[in-house]
Amino acid sequence: MTNYLIKNGTIINEGIRVIADLLIENGRIKKIGVDLNADREVQVIDAKGKLVLPGMIDDQVHFREPGLTHKGDIASESKAAVAGGITSFIEQPNTIPNAVSQEILEQKYQRADEVSFANYSFMMGGTNNNLDEVLKTNPRNVAGIKLFLGSSTGNMLVDDQEVLEKIFSSTSMLIAVHAEDEATIRENMAAHVEKYGDDIPVSCHPAIRSAEACYLSSSKAIELAKKTGARLHVFHVSTAKETELFRNDIPLKDKKITAEVCVHHLWFSDKDYESKGNFIKWNPAVKSAADREGLWKALLDDRIDVIATDHAPHTLEEKSKPYGQAPSGGPLVQHALIALLEAAREGKITVEKIVEKTAHNPATLFQIEKRGYLREGYHADIVIVDPEVDWSVDKSNVLYKCGWSPFEGTNFHSKVIHTFVNGSLVYSNGKLSDTHAGQRLLFDR
Ligand code: DOR
Repeated sequence: MTNYLIKNGTIINEGIRVIADLLIENGRIKKIGVDLNADREVQVIDAKGKLVLPGMIDDQVHFREPGLTHKGDIASESKAAVAGGITSFIEQPNTIPNAVSQEILEQKYQRADEVSFANYSFMMGGTNNNLDEVLKTNPRNVAGIKLFLGSSTGNMLVDDQEVLEKIFSSTSMLIAVHAEDEATIRENMAAHVEKYGDDIPVSCHPAIRSAEACYLSSSKAIELAKKTGARLHVFHVSTAKETELFRNDIPLKDKKITAEVCVHHLWFSDKDYESKGNFIKWNPAVKSAADREGLWKALLDDRIDVIATDHAPHTLEEKSKPYGQAPSGGPLVQHALIALLEAAREGKITVEKIVEKTAHNPATLFQIEKRGYLREGYHADIVIVDPEVDWSVDKSNVLYKCGWSPFEGTNFHSKVIHTFVNGSLVYSNGKLSDTHAGQRLLFDR
């Protein structure tokens, strides 16, 4: 395989920024230093003025394969991911069939092994009646167990309290939850149907999938984790109030309860429903500007540990339906890192902190083996960004199979120019290689 010498890049890693070279040999980072020379043939990449970062590890995506491949598939969405600087992803079980048995789960791994451009892991789905299967999950090569405590795309609601308690108390694996209280949502929905009939405006989405529904469900899950000693990760925290539930006085590696925020909840607010409509309809809902501020605050003070995308493509046709029929979710993997770098330009966050929340912390939190950091001996999962390019998102440059982005019309000033996955240059200056370089993630546990 080709070896690479990345010259004179601004390497941002582990809170430090240095101008240095990085040598990739046999898929691994061989050396980081000044004036490096290779002792074998290499391809040199001039990275002067460019940022060299560890690839993003996105801990929550929906790539729709099997069963929903009209929306996206592992090949199409992992391509978009590497073009966006994401080198590893953790995919969710609400595919069809749902990934709720070891057999179905392993079939997803086999498929990814054939077609994925990025490194991959697939979560095992818990239901009201598959405890035996859940307990067979191998902590060494599966990221975790996913539970939908509120129903979303795919009808995987787990609402049997006894079952939940059993799952929480019988596994030492990480349990990731989608936390929205089902009864509260149903009540809110009924009130809106009574008021608006079939014509509910999408701006009511945060009143239906309300802040109260989020807080009630997150706090219950946390209570149960404390009672049972489970390792809990709360996905897509979307309200300021929920951030009060998380701590920043424990090092991440010792935390038993962790939190994730998604790019769309950091970027959009309820003011955007008017212009974006169903294209920013997500579960949990995008809420108020004050919620968004609360999320930024908790991210910066380390109550929130990681940033992810919840990449969840639906077709234009599906999203163009009236509010009640339009599915929730949107595609994000191609633009997440770039949107965060835009926030850095606006002074909301440093690039060092972005690297911590998108690469170091997911690696630490999931105990991913030898990834997430630019360290000698680690897999060469690397992204090179040009921080001075003016471009905007439009349908012609969107790579998602669904062909649209909630960021259409947005002007960005950074661009991913090269992405390495396991030392393979899978994306370079707008071109994707056809190397399915992704490998199954392994976990130090
Ligand atoms: O908005 C969402 N869409 N939230 C989820 O949790 C699921 C996702 C999907 O799969 O469409």
